[in-house]
Amino acid sequence: MGNSRNPLFLFFFLQFSLLCALSWARFFPADNYLIACGSTSAYTLDDRRVFLPDSAALLRSSGAKISLSAAQPPAPSPLSPTARVFTRPSSYEFQIKQKGTHIIRLHFYPFSSRDFNLSSALFHVSASGFVLLTYFGTSVPLLKEYILRVDAEKLVISFAPAQRSSFSFVNAIEVVSAPGDLIGDTARLVGPDRIEKFDGLSRVAMESLHRLNVGGRKVTPFNDTLWRTWVPDAGFKNSDSVSKAVAFSGRIMFQDGGASREVAPDNVYNTARVVVGANISDSNSNMTWVFAVRSGYKYLIRLHFCDIASRALNELYFNVYVNGYSAYEDFDLSYVTGSLASPRYVDFVAGVDSLEQLLSVSIGPSKQGSHSRINGLLNGLEIMKINNTMGSLDGDILVLVSPARRGFGAFLRSIVCGFAFVSLSIVGFMLLLRWRAETRNPVTWSPLATDVLDGKLAKGNPVVSGKFYF
Ligand SMILES: *[C@@H]1O[C@H](CO)[C@@H](O)[C@H](O)[C@H]1NC(C)=O
Ligand SMILES: *[C@@H]1O[C@H](CO)[C@@H](O)[C@H](O)[C@H]1NC(C)=O
Ligand SMILES: *[C@@H]1O[C@H](CO)[C@@H](O)[C@H](O)[C@H]1NC(C)=O
Ligand SMILES: *[C@@H]1O[C@H](CO)[C@@H](O)[C@H](O)[C@H]1NC(C)=O
Ligand SMILES: *[C@@H]1O[C@H](CO)[C@@H](O)[C@H](O)[C@H]1NC(C)=O
Repeated sequence: MGNSRNPLFLFFFLQFSLLCALSWARFFPADNYLIACGSTSAYTLDDRRVFLPDSAALLRSSGAKISLSAAQPPAPSPLSPTARVFTRPSSYEFQIKQKGTHIIRLHFYPFSSRDFNLSSALFHVSASGFVLLTYFGTSVPLLKEYILRVDAEKLVISFAPAQRSSFSFVNAIEVVSAPGDLIGDTARLVGPDRIEKFDGLSRVAMESLHRLNVGGRKVTPFNDTLWRTWVPDAGFKNSDSVSKAVAFSGRIMFQDGGASREVAPDNVYNTARVVVGANISDSNSNMTWVFAVRSGYKYLIRLHFCDIASRALNELYFNVYVNGYSAYEDFDLSYVTGSLASPRYVDFVAGVDSLEQLLSVSIGPSKQGSHSRINGLLNGLEIMKINNTMGSLDGDILVLVSPARRGFGAFLRSIVCGFAFVSLSIVGFMLLLRWRAETRNPVTWSPLATDVLDGKLAKGNPVVSGKFYF
């Protein structure tokens, strides 16, 4: 090829390579703690990240800091052969360089050793004032991911045995700064009759439940900008006669103001499922994904769109439904992005009531696009659980783990009260307040909620007698 000797060709080739290299630049988090708990040596993962041993500087424990090694390590991860076991309330403290949204991942790979069978552990975990897990135990490998905002100099992740005879364990911990654009502050709150604005999304704590690469293959942490795993959607999709998986080999056009490569990687946007040749009068022309979830929580539903299927702009219009309720009508991706193959995401929030234990997302034809070749599209889908009003992601149990006696700094106090009990206390407190209001000035309700979360109610109110100290 004579072309390659042409200096102009070479110039453009170099320019292009430089552009590619720049746009593929990895995200470098300000806070990036990768900890192999109980280990004495560093581990390197397939995705090239290095997990370091948990140094004494990170650990606060009132009991023994037991380090365990598996004789026969369970298979799933290079991080699985060691664990840290705590028989008393204990915590890890991470110095935070950059306040803001952080991703926390807790790795649990239970194994059995001479003294401890990790499958029989039962414990609570809290972080940054939020309850992450209560009465938690697992006999299978689990990776739990949380996204929450840290506004303090320190992030404390606490582990407390659920009973005196029990213990807690963890194999590895990741605390990583999230890119600034990962979690916005508003979403569309989808209800039975209307859509409202949901504010304060960046202030809640969330647990990542599902992350689907719709119509595509599994994306491993090796290929994800934030070391996430995206799984194929087949296991969550209802059967239908209208959807078809599509793939795109061109370049994904990330735009300012749209989804960035950190929000979801190229591998998520270059595959999708589309609705083809749907008939809007036919009530079975939606593609639908269904998730089993716990009721009593709100969920963030993030839908990733990138029109890799249309031949021209303004050909694709569709409707989005969450739990069967209209969430977005006549969604026009061309109008939003102004170009094909350009990614966008939309955040919806929906509650799941006590009867339904299911969350469903549907994409179907809109009236506006009734003559189009394609009547719907979805590239990626994420489901995240939002903390309840008690600041918990795992049940109506109030678990407060806070360091007592700063001088020692090693003692932790954990107060566990059943929700029913707290409710009773609140009722008792309300009666008390009312009695006081009748005798003195009226008292407003707002301090009460704060008191409950701070544990002051449990501490100061004589009505509460069932607190447990560890
Ligand atoms: C560990 O505990 C689990 C659940 O309690 C049990 O199924 C398993 O057999 C135990 N393993 C050993 C080696 O004792
Ligand atoms: C990363 O993505 C590329 C391109 O999609 C694929 O060929 C490769 O197998 C992936 N690697 C891993 C470790 O998932
Ligand atoms: C759409 O479905 C309706 C009802 O099933 C049918 O009457 C109509 O002919 C269909 N239209 C097309 C274009 O297939
Ligand atoms: C899609 O699902 C929604 C919600 O269940 C329903 O109202 C709508 O009629 C369905 N549309 C089609 C074309 O199947
Ligand atoms: C989650 O926690 C935040 C901060 O504590 C609180 O403001 C918010 O109301 C909680 N979310 C829900 C849905 O109650």
